[in-house]
Amino acid sequence: MKIGTPKEITADEARVAMTPTSAARLQKLGHSCLIQSGAGKAAGFNDDAYREAGVEVVADADALWKAADVITKVRPPEANEIGLLDQSKTLISFFYPAQNEALLADTNSSKATLLAMDMVPRISRAQKMDALSSMANIAGYRAVIEAGNNFGRFFTGQITAAGKVPPAKVLVIGAGVAGLSAIGTAQSLGAIVRAFDVRPEVAEQIESMGAEFLFLDFNEDGAGDGGYAAPSSPEFREKQLACFREQAPEVDIVITTALIPGRDAPKLWLEDMVKLMKPGSVIVDLAAERGGNCDLTQMDKKIVSDNGVTVIGYTDFPSRMAAQSSELYSTNIAHMLADLTPEKDGQINHNMEDDVIRGATASHAGEITFPPPPPKVAAIAKQTAAKVPEQTPEEIAAAEALAAKKAGWRQIGLLCVGAAFMWLLGNYAPASFMQHFIVFVLAVFIGFQVIWNVSHALHTPLMAVTNAISGIIILGALLQLDSGNGVVTLLAGISVLIASINVVGGFMVTRRMLQMFQKS
Ligand code: NAI
Repeated sequence: MKIGTPKEITADEARVAMTPTSAARLQKLGHSCLIQSGAGKAAGFNDDAYREAGVEVVADADALWKAADVITKVRPPEANEIGLLDQSKTLISFFYPAQNEALLADTNSSKATLLAMDMVPRISRAQKMDALSSMANIAGYRAVIEAGNNFGRFFTGQITAAGKVPPAKVLVIGAGVAGLSAIGTAQSLGAIVRAFDVRPEVAEQIESMGAEFLFLDFNEDGAGDGGYAAPSSPEFREKQLACFREQAPEVDIVITTALIPGRDAPKLWLEDMVKLMKPGSVIVDLAAERGGNCDLTQMDKKIVSDNGVTVIGYTDFPSRMAAQSSELYSTNIAHMLADLTPEKDGQINHNMEDDVIRGATASHAGEITFPPPPPKVAAIAKQTAAKVPEQTPEEIAAAEALAAKKAGWRQIGLLCVGAAFMWLLGNYAPASFMQHFIVFVLAVFIGFQVIWNVSHALHTPLMAVTNAISGIIILGALLQLDSGNGVVTLLAGISVLIASINVVGGFMVTRRMLQMFQKS
């Protein structure tokens, strides 16, 4: 199939849906690639770079839309682009079908197949195609950079000859993809970072990044379906606003990313909170496109409040980093096409049984297929959960007590069998053998119990201890190597070999673990 990418026609859109790198991936799937001349220029990819990657450069948009079987682009199609579609073509782009019903009907009337990259379900298998996350990651990073650009101070604290500089305090509201990316960036620049989210499960992620999670003393789980949040109750919201009001005079930079898909952005940073902030502070509102989390946000604008707080409501952060976002977006598309080309033979197989393809397909064979059914993965999890009968806390405690009692009896039984075996062996074996044998059995038993009760995550540090034991074994075996008895020498040799493998393996694992924490 011919995969073609036109130049984006939306004003100021610098991204492109195919890069020379992604074209190479597509060619490996058996496809040939076309690009409209100049399509990658704003993202830093010139026509020659595409030519070198084996991409055919087409002079104008009309020729490209006509020649390509699959058109990949960033922004939803405009009316004149829809006019160039027909039933033989597949369009892959951001589309937001829930918010663009009329556009969806128009596109469907062309009978073309439409895959909306914003509809890729958030399931593990589809992460490599999750273009929303790729873009949100960039937006979170860029939000911090933009804030820094408008904040007249350092992020990191410093002690200089000229005086002490306090670190900037950054508050991130909403710790989804964009929020976590903003937390990581602000943290790495040396700021003190605090974060809040209605989903308590993200607290651990926030803290593991070195930021502080703002806990609310309120019993409500804000988690909804598919990794997104559920709307908060009015009482929860009041508590949340009180917490933010307390933070407002302290923080220098606020980055808001709170959103529930398909809804307007919740207002979380109210006018009075802006008034409480210090002059020179900055608010970056990533939810500006859906009305904004801050009362003062104006979409696509930067304003300065009466008390000197800068409020940024840009909605094109990924486009402001077009080289990076084009690379990530085009890779997401290449992964989608890899799923659509299972045989890697350049033939598209639009398998509507596939959760990811079905989820992203908004129209197919002349029919609007949006909204898709929930992915089977989630449905299976729910069914299984439904089959498990609910237990009261008393029932759970009783079941646990019964299991502990059973395990206790089993252990007593095993001990009795072991003691009987020892007694029987002791009646026949020589005393010197029994002494060594009992030490051996106890070592195996205690070693097993120790390792069995250590959580899997700690098995690697445990290797440090086994390394020490291996050292003792090697020393003992070396002393026995020249014993003169062939069997003893052989056993000593085997002991040295096996213990050395353990020691070398331990060093290798430890080195790998240390590398994980090294900054490249
Ligand atoms: P996400 O769904 O992964 O994260 C949103 C987070 O907000 C979730 O963790 C959710 O639990 C939280 N949240 C929802 N309601 C909340 C509330 N009342 N209080 C506190 N937290 C709340 O979304 P993602 O992908 O991180 O995107 C975040 C925002 O960034 C979205 O509004 C998205 O449209 C926007 N965005 C903006 C761009 C720009 O250029 N301005 C570019 C890309 C994304």
